[in-house]
Amino acid sequence: MPAPSNQPFCASSIIGTGSYMPEKVLTNDDLSKIVDTNDEWITTRTGIKERRIAAADQATSDMASEAARRAMADAGVTAEDIQLIIVATVTPDMFFPSTACFVQKKIGATNAVCFDISAACSGFLYALQVARHFINTGNRTTALVIGAEKLSSLINWQDRNTCVLFGDGAGAVVIRRDDEGGINAPGRVLSTVMGSDGNLADLLKVPGGGSACPITAENADSRPNTIHMEGRETFKHAVTRMLEAAQQALEMAGLTAADVSLVIPHQANARIISAIADRLNLPLDRVFMNLDKYGNTSAATIPVALDEANKAGRLKKGDVILLVAFGGGFTWASSVVRW
Ligand code: ACO
Repeated sequence: MPAPSNQPFCASSIIGTGSYMPEKVLTNDDLSKIVDTNDEWITTRTGIKERRIAAADQATSDMASEAARRAMADAGVTAEDIQLIIVATVTPDMFFPSTACFVQKKIGATNAVCFDISAACSGFLYALQVARHFINTGNRTTALVIGAEKLSSLINWQDRNTCVLFGDGAGAVVIRRDDEGGINAPGRVLSTVMGSDGNLADLLKVPGGGSACPITAENADSRPNTIHMEGRETFKHAVTRMLEAAQQALEMAGLTAADVSLVIPHQANARIISAIADRLNLPLDRVFMNLDKYGNTSAATIPVALDEANKAGRLKKGDVILLVAFGGGFTWASSVVRW
């Protein structure tokens, strides 16, 4: 992978976090009643014990809006202050309008420009970088960056290879231009790197439901509008790319893994996370994991984990936080934040 070019200095800081997880819990034992699996297999292969499932009448924008309200309350800003809303999601409410426009309507952020980003599990970090560039150019000063998914709407509940892995939820941050305080300003995003490899698109995809393969009466029974994944291949690429991205983001910030107080990785598989921690020479007590409770919520995992770590008091002023993700596309990204 080519070395990323130097980024312009971005005076953007995370000033608030929020998350929302649906109430319904689906345990591994519950799943073993609908598909040929068991708690022992799921726990040892993935680390997941349970996941949350949104209500039938709950759309991605409903979860995103609640996470957004909580992030705005944490940041001490009002809906009128928000000038940009980006929702990272692969489970939009509908093809259009964007989920971000529905969030705007639900929270009353009338001054915001709104759009979605599709980068699967890397979506939140992609969206964070796009928002930074809006802020850096002076185009907008205050933004909501949201990762939200209703993956239960894309799951084939007969496919044990995938249905045990995913869940629903939403996380959000408020980021704001902050020219005071330099790189030590609280919440300052110090660096972000991103990468993509569309040649590997077939390894992880929802093949149907779009323009390439619309759902028809003839193909509906084969469920093309559900997640298809080559798990082993995805696993290998995830470890390699997340490690590279993390190292590059640290280098860009002028830091090393030894400086990192907490890694908040995409929550796909505890074995992927352990492999990355091991290669960065970081003990697991410096790695945040909540996938046992929520499974893989794609673009939502990092903002949800960031919010949980924040509210649990695990982020201290001045801490170096490493965020790193990998997902369908393939896509990958990493950011370094000084809390
Ligand atoms: N319960 C019981 N057995 C199962 C289950 C299950 N839920 N799923 C698969 N098996 C079986 C398989 O059929 C296979 O049986 P066989 O040996 O008789 O053929 C055996 O278990 C091993 O299957 P593998 O797929 O080789 O298992 P592996 O150890 O690779 O674990 C897993 C599978 C958990 C999916 C892993 O490969 C993984 O986590 N991959 C990465 C996923 C990921 O990171 N995704 C990130 C992006 S997600 C996104 O962007 C939306």
